[in-house]
Amino acid sequence: MLVAEELLKRYKQEHIIKFLENNPKLEEQILSFDFDTIINLYNSVKNRKNLEASIIEHMPYTNKEKLSEKETKELEDIGEKIIKQNKYAVITMAGGQGTRLGHTGPKGTYKINTVNGPKYLFEIIIDELKKAQEKYGTTIMWYIMTSKENNDETENFLKIHNFFGYPSDKVKFFKQGEMPLISDDGKLLINEHKIIKEASDGNGSIYASLDRDGILEDMRKREIEWIFIGGVDNVLLKFIDPLLTGLTIEEGNIIASKSIIKRDAYEKVGVFCKVNGRPKVIEYTETPKDLAEEVDENGDFVYGDTNIISHLFNIKALEKIANKNMPYHVAHKKAEYLDESGNLIKPDTPNAYKFESFIFDAFEEFEDMTLLRVKRENEFAPIKNKEGNDSPETATKLYNNFMKRNLI
Ligand code: UD1
Repeated sequence: MLVAEELLKRYKQEHIIKFLENNPKLEEQILSFDFDTIINLYNSVKNRKNLEASIIEHMPYTNKEKLSEKETKELEDIGEKIIKQNKYAVITMAGGQGTRLGHTGPKGTYKINTVNGPKYLFEIIIDELKKAQEKYGTTIMWYIMTSKENNDETENFLKIHNFFGYPSDKVKFFKQGEMPLISDDGKLLINEHKIIKEASDGNGSIYASLDRDGILEDMRKREIEWIFIGGVDNVLLKFIDPLLTGLTIEEGNIIASKSIIKRDAYEKVGVFCKVNGRPKVIEYTETPKDLAEEVDENGDFVYGDTNIISHLFNIKALEKIANKNMPYHVAHKKAEYLDESGNLIKPDTPNAYKFESFIFDAFEEFEDMTLLRVKRENEFAPIKNKEGNDSPETATKLYNNFMKRNLI
């Protein structure tokens, strides 16, 4: 108890001391924190790195539509060989909170009405894995990244549904990290369970988590070479893609991604570019207005290749970045907390900073990457919001249209 108390004093968090009494969970939590990193992050909020100081350029890409049939076939053959040799795995990032959608469980347990009947998002992913089983005669390993908060619920859901008929020994879960929230005046917050309020620390913690939870080791044992990483909420995500794999190998890269053209200047998507010669995605929350709106002589967006979280990595790339410190991005959010008298405070305006790392920030660790531009209607139907754009309604429509086009 004393050590925890000393730490709180040293880092000016005395308001928490009174919650320590008979609270071993809080004590354990405090002892596990890297206070220096947390406080440095808070201090850096007012000191953000300036993007404008960098040289930003358009990122070259390959347009899937412009490849000839012969080229496509040759590249797909290269990728198919990798899949058939069991050297390909899929990771689904499902550690997000899905606050915008307002679904209480993990996002993968959300159900939509498809032309093939009602389907959970996880079930839609398994449908594709099963199709690949038939097509390539191999069972692809599926790794799911969860958060501390939703891990048990996710595992139980898939167990109850018997993994929708996919072999359970080909599915593995791992957990991402968390970071405490910090109030405007640099204080840690106490939540309703009388412990420090933490939240998932962004999908960029995937690299460290893969290593920490033994997934990289598991992949090495299975001799997996290429790993696709995607989000959980895009029901048209093509996560088994021999073309992308073949193109990446052919271009001699060890990381790759797919893009679509931005719908409008302010669509809530990250955009690909090169910053100081290195590949990068600038997130929508941080894209300067002029960059978002910039068009070329044909009226096309200069930074129009948007990120659909359709990433491919060679295992060597994941090994290289597993222990790199990922930068944190900050968001100002409303966060409920207990005040010193134990009353639950529900703020009306943002009162705390949340720190998140982004998976694509690791791209800058590589000199180059493959970028394959694909068609929106074939590969992007995200479920983000309750209604309007990128909602269950729009995603279901896109999914059903795709299925009809490809089945009939
Ligand atoms: C994300 C992308 C954005 C892209 C858009 C397309 C990132 C950082 N941003 O934005 O560039 O244009 O999707 O739809 O990738 N997740 C976790 N743990 C977390 C946070 C998120 O696993 O801590 C997962 C989510 O479960 C989801 C994916 O990452 O599968 C995307 O997360 P979300 O917060 O919805 O990202 P967007 O803001 O939509």
